[in-house]
Amino acid sequence: MPETFPPSPEFAAQAVAGAALYDEAATDREAFWARQARELLSWDQDFHQTLDWSDAPFAEWFVGGRLNVSYNCVDRHVLAGRGDKVAIHFVGEPGDRRDITYAELQREVSKAANALTSLGIRKGDRVAIYLPMIPEAVITMLACARLGAPHSVVFGGFSADALRSRIEDAQASLVVTADGGYRRSTASLLKPAVDAAVSGDSPVSKVLVVRRTKSDVAWDDSRDVWWHDVVDGASDQHTPEAHDSEHPLFILYTSGTTGKPKGIFHTTGGYLTQTAYTHKAVFDLHADTDVYWCTADVGWITGHSYIVYGPLANGATQVIYEGTPDSPHRGRWWDIIAEYGVTIFYTAPTAIRTCMKWGDDIPAAADLSSLRVLGSVGEPINPEAWRWYHRVVGGGRCPIVDTWWQTETGAIMISPLPGVTATKPGSAQVPLPGINVAVVDDEAKPLGNGESGLLVVTEPWPSMLRGIWGDPERYRETYWSRFEGLYFAGDGAKKDEDGDLWLLGRVDDVMNVSGHRLSTAEIESALVSHPSVAEAAVVGATDETTGQAVCAFVILRGTATETADSVTELRNHVAKEIGPIAKPRQIMIVAELPKTRSGKIMRRLLRDIAENREVGDTSTLADTNVMNLIRTGLTTSS
Ligand code: WT7
Repeated sequence: MPETFPPSPEFAAQAVAGAALYDEAATDREAFWARQARELLSWDQDFHQTLDWSDAPFAEWFVGGRLNVSYNCVDRHVLAGRGDKVAIHFVGEPGDRRDITYAELQREVSKAANALTSLGIRKGDRVAIYLPMIPEAVITMLACARLGAPHSVVFGGFSADALRSRIEDAQASLVVTADGGYRRSTASLLKPAVDAAVSGDSPVSKVLVVRRTKSDVAWDDSRDVWWHDVVDGASDQHTPEAHDSEHPLFILYTSGTTGKPKGIFHTTGGYLTQTAYTHKAVFDLHADTDVYWCTADVGWITGHSYIVYGPLANGATQVIYEGTPDSPHRGRWWDIIAEYGVTIFYTAPTAIRTCMKWGDDIPAAADLSSLRVLGSVGEPINPEAWRWYHRVVGGGRCPIVDTWWQTETGAIMISPLPGVTATKPGSAQVPLPGINVAVVDDEAKPLGNGESGLLVVTEPWPSMLRGIWGDPERYRETYWSRFEGLYFAGDGAKKDEDGDLWLLGRVDDVMNVSGHRLSTAEIESALVSHPSVAEAAVVGATDETTGQAVCAFVILRGTATETADSVTELRNHVAKEIGPIAKPRQIMIVAELPKTRSGKIMRRLLRDIAENREVGDTSTLADTNVMNLIRTGLTTSS
């Protein structure tokens, strides 16, 4: 029986969310969500129906309601007299700082909305955002939301090719970028990747560029405009228009089981309701006193929901930091927590394990006594890392919320409530009030305590994806075809003796590297696009720090020969095609790949090799000698 950590009586007494929420939601789930929507958000026009599921799996939430997300995240706080409250404490990696109050944020977002309008952006147009972690990223997202122009944020670590395919899929007409951003004490350029991504035939007519690093960048006068030229001079008055509750808010691409990333799209009322509700309940947000910090990048869903929309809808004060935790030294995060008195801290297991490896003395050197709630997201957190986080970062006094969710779910689905749940290292535990999940077997039969199976969501939820951009059939097929009427999450899960949920990782060909989702098929197709590669198979192998690591098995073309350079070149080729995050940790050149008689690559066997295990059952291989061939080849060549 694992040890549990109940909330202290003092914590429980002041907590914003109590056990009664579970009863309320269980009694009438839709009424529960309708109350959240009306209490947490300001609507220009009330909705007349909470959920329309008649065209399942296409949901409509808060039907008939109208609201503006940017107004909800900014203007209404100013109107309520909180204009002087800091919304964002920005910390640049080189040490520059900028505090932005809600009143300033309102002016900046209004200016940006006016500038986007002057560049031709109208409601419904798509805007691609390729920016470092600087305030302009948040400002641009809110300006798009204000206009009803769905944004598509592309993580700055993605390559020009990845950016191009996302721009094309969404048919974005404008890209907002920067000359570069700071990472590990150097200016890393972004503009050249945009130049490459929009060259030739492209739907993009304008590129709006923030000057961040003052690096020299190429300039196309007919297409490129500086942010300081068009935004700084724009009017700081802008009247937000109310949009339909189901108006698309953003598209965010994520890896699936095929080579082509999926444009997950989210809409307005339901998304904002659930991000605001979960941000408040799961992190026990007391907006007047808390200082919140989420270390994610806005290029991922965590940044969308828990840097931009949830915290700002709730009028929180937060820290945004541009760089990496080890720049200029490994105590940078802890210094920031001490400097701003951060009370709520949300990060990923891979970062926790890295800090753990660096040693206890580094966090111990900083004053972390302001912290009161800690969060984890992105992959299962192993109990050892959980305990370290609890003891060394949280001083043994802070509840840890292990939050399970996905790009598709839009907001947190499974997590302890910090003032209610006795937390358990390694388990995400229970669905939130208003969320219904089950663990089922292959026949969709619900499993009981002590059993492992597949995680499904059994009822629609407000922040659920509304589809895959431009591909409704793929939406139905990917999430709703495995089991009739159930949302298939793609994760394995186990219910323990207490009924608490343990997430067991992906059951499809999706890897999780440092909390980032990568598809085996996408990396395989990047590898085979190299002229010297005949065939490639990619697996995610367990890695102590990153959770999983990319391991590739490659067959070279007849004419190519293996050298140390060819492996380096192939790794760099993947980085160029997709981005540095997709670079394989290891590439093994082999003569054959293990395949079934129907030609399907048996990744399970390759994973055995990548993880240095005895190779499992090979009886379904078309050629049972292949594994010997691979093993011998590897031992002789290394
Ligand atoms: C996949 C979703 C949610 C934002 C970051 C990742 C894994 C996420 C947890 C957790 C175990 C987790 C799942 C999920 N995952 N959080 N707390 N415990 N696994 O979003 O890129 O859409 O990836 O991340 O496998 O399916 P994403």
